[in-house]
Amino acid sequence: MSGEPDARTDLGRILLVGFMGSGKSSVGRALGRALDWRFVDFDDAVSAEEGRSVPEIFRASGEDHFRRAEARVGQRLLGEDRVVLASGGGWAAAPGRLDALPPGTATFWLRISSDEAVRRVGGGAGLRPLLAAPGAEERATRLLEEREPFYRLANWAVDTDGRSVEDVTAEVLGILRREYAVVTRTEAE
Ligand code: S3P
Repeated sequence: MSGEPDARTDLGRILLVGFMGSGKSSVGRALGRALDWRFVDFDDAVSAEEGRSVPEIFRASGEDHFRRAEARVGQRLLGEDRVVLASGGGWAAAPGRLDALPPGTATFWLRISSDEAVRRVGGGAGLRPLLAAPGAEERATRLLEEREPFYRLANWAVDTDGRSVEDVTAEVLGILRREYAVVTRTEAE
């Protein structure tokens, strides 16, 4: 645990879900800065725990091993307060994940089309084993279709196609102000 829930609100943590390339990490980092909360990316936490990169884990130990590590890390991080969490694209897409969150968790689905996801991840496909060429377009379309029913369980959906990190972050903050009366760092000054 890292600190108490925000005393001004019932909001304990923010969890971002969505497909690869949807901006979970960039938006999460910006939200953390705005709220003066810690930001943690599930993939980074898995890498730190395993002492190797995500592609290396996939390559050497397989996806199942990665998913088990990701599940452990997710469970631990969801017990923390005053934290913005960016889950990996596959984390939310397992049964039960978004149904059983601790109270005070606000979940946002950052929505992206498969075309834009592939475009954004593009040259960095080596960092996303599941979208490594060839066949990234077809794989992305199929994966997104399978995952959408899970992502849809988030409290709010925010479109990201063609939008900047600043714009998406502002929309999320607007929802948080309205629903939880959160105050950003600049507003508090
Ligand atoms: C994955 C998404 C990646 C990473 C891994 C698997 C997925 O995270 O966890 O490559 O299954 O969608 P990002 O969504 O942060 O790219």
